[in-house]
Amino acid sequence: MVKESFIYINGEFKASNEANISILDQGFLLGDAVFDVVSSWQGVIFKLDQHIARFEDSLRAVRLNCSLNRDGWRQVIIDTVRQNNLRDSSIRFIATRGLSQEIIADPRNNKPTEIVWAAPYIFLADQEKRNNGVRLMISALRGFSPDTLDPRYKCVDRMHFQLAKMEALDAGYDDVIWLDQNGYIAEGPASNIFLVKNQVLFTPSDGVLKGITRETFLELADRAKIQRRECQISSFDLYSADEVFTTSTAGGALAVREVSGRIIGNGSPGEVTKKLDDMYWDLRRSGEYGTPVFT
Ligand SMILES: Cc1ncc(COP(=O)(O)O)c(C=O)c1O
Repeated sequence: MVKESFIYINGEFKASNEANISILDQGFLLGDAVFDVVSSWQGVIFKLDQHIARFEDSLRAVRLNCSLNRDGWRQVIIDTVRQNNLRDSSIRFIATRGLSQEIIADPRNNKPTEIVWAAPYIFLADQEKRNNGVRLMISALRGFSPDTLDPRYKCVDRMHFQLAKMEALDAGYDDVIWLDQNGYIAEGPASNIFLVKNQVLFTPSDGVLKGITRETFLELADRAKIQRRECQISSFDLYSADEVFTTSTAGGALAVREVSGRIIGNGSPGEVTKKLDDMYWDLRRSGEYGTPVFT
């Protein structure tokens, strides 16, 4: 039997089969919505305040005035995980432009639709790929850029992700890597990207969502005394790297064993990747940066 789950929507918890939004919601009609994803592991939410702060930046940038303030979102996120009795969970919180009476409407002054949805913890890849690494293809489509939509908007508009992913799957790859408008490496699939060359860790400095996991891996590199640099990275740098991996809230580090036909390193997860990922999961289990859900 499928366990009943509860979703927070506009002030109420509803059973998932009753948590609906209107077809006149601008989030549905126009993809006009921002979101964030935080996760809990062993009953502890990681870096909740950092995720909410990033979400607030997106809310301000898109001019959404929510009824929930920072503490309100915080409490509702914790309550949603509790309601669903999930120890390991991925929690998506979303604010849409909300309901409009007309199909073409003035986007100012709408009342946002506010949603918090907790699901069992999601990994970006299955166990085999987490053990052995994924094969990624550099997409012909370019990522968003500050002159269109700054990648720091964490918005639900993911059409370009879907188009690129289909191309990658058709070509026999697992997913894509994005280049920015200048042809430099930007991001992995719903993730940030890192490479290791001669024991130094590199990640793109600009044109990326400022991933909370990215920030955590940079901090862990400092703790491990691994040199690290945020700078422009080209596809050549990736092809000739010793190790490549992506980072996201959905699983920490994911090793990349091939990029567009080039085998990375020896074709399996590298030592620095494994070390930093182990440190990441130790950090998660330690409770540092943690918000316990069930106390
Ligand atoms: C476009 C994009 N980049 C990077 C990330 C990784 O961010 P985080 O580490 O905060 O999960 C995500 C996560 O959803 C994303 O959608």
